Amino acid sequence: MSKVALVTGGSRGIGAAISKALQEAGYTVVATYAGNDEAAKSFTEETGIKTYKWSVADYDACAEGIKRIEDEVGPIAVLVNNAGITRDAMFHKMTPQQWKEVIDTNLTGLFNMTHPVWSGMRDRKFGRIINISSINGQKGQAGQANYSAAKAGDLGFTKALAQEGARAGITVNAICPGYIATEMVKAIDEKVLSERIIPQIPVGRLGEPEEIARTVVFLASDDAGFITGSTISANGGQFFV
Ligand SMILES: NC(=O)c1ccc[n+]([C@@H]2O[C@H](COP(=O)([O-])OP(=O)(O)OC[C@H]3O[C@@H](n4cnc5c(N)ncnc54)[C@H](OP(=O)(O)O)[C@@H]3O)[C@@H](O)[C@H]2O)c1
Repeated sequence: MSKVALVTGGSRGIGAAISKALQEAGYTVVATYAGNDEAAKSFTEETGIKTYKWSVADYDACAEGIKRIEDEVGPIAVLVNNAGITRDAMFHKMTPQQWKEVIDTNLTGLFNMTHPVWSGMRDRKFGRIINISSINGQKGQAGQANYSAAKAGDLGFTKALAQEGARAGITVNAICPGYIATEMVKAIDEKVLSERIIPQIPVGRLGEPEEIARTVVFLASDDAGFITGSTISANGGQFFV
């Protein structure tokens, strides 16, 4: 029987590419999303991948949703914490609401999703947790104090949990994408992209969602069993740690 992989925010953008790549690699994939029913419906029609709707910011919804998936599909072997949002503002204009929404989704969401799968992974002596952080969690970004704090927090979470999971056969790793050609980034004004953003990327182009997806497939594989607590930067050389 194939292993079950759950991808949060797996119906759109980078998450959709991750879901498809894991499916192609032989996993039984399920994807979650927050509210875009139309995108989830067409994603399921295209791929046959089941989608489930709840917010990763809600612990009880995560625990219930994961139980339902494990009852319907099987124990989760691979969890990809990909769901994320931005609520950008310069700090002097940032509202407590903008701060809270981003921390609740991008940082607490990792606790909420990982905690309910952790005991099962420990019992089965196998698990793969892959957290999608960001280049802006590594270097910081003006206008994103909330996002940068949450994404940096994801890296601390990854390193601490890797130490706890190691003896139980669970690896925990993070990927920090740079600028990736998703709808969000492609919506940026062409002039801004070509004159201000792409010149900062030494390889001279945006990353493709599939490039992040292939990194996830590798980290999920048995071949990556000795890699844990790592942060993989996938940013075209834009920033080195
Ligand atoms: N794009 C980039 O250049 C880039 C760079 C670095 C890091 N990242 C990170 O990569 C991840 C994916 O980014 P993306 O650009 O592919 O984003 P996206 O296209 O905006 O898709 C985000 C996905 O997350 C889901 N989501 C958002 N809030 C959620 C919540 N509270 N509960 C459950 N699901 C939720 C969305 O659901 P709905 O479809 O229902 O809205 C959607 O499926 C994020 O963590 C982002 O921070 C992206």
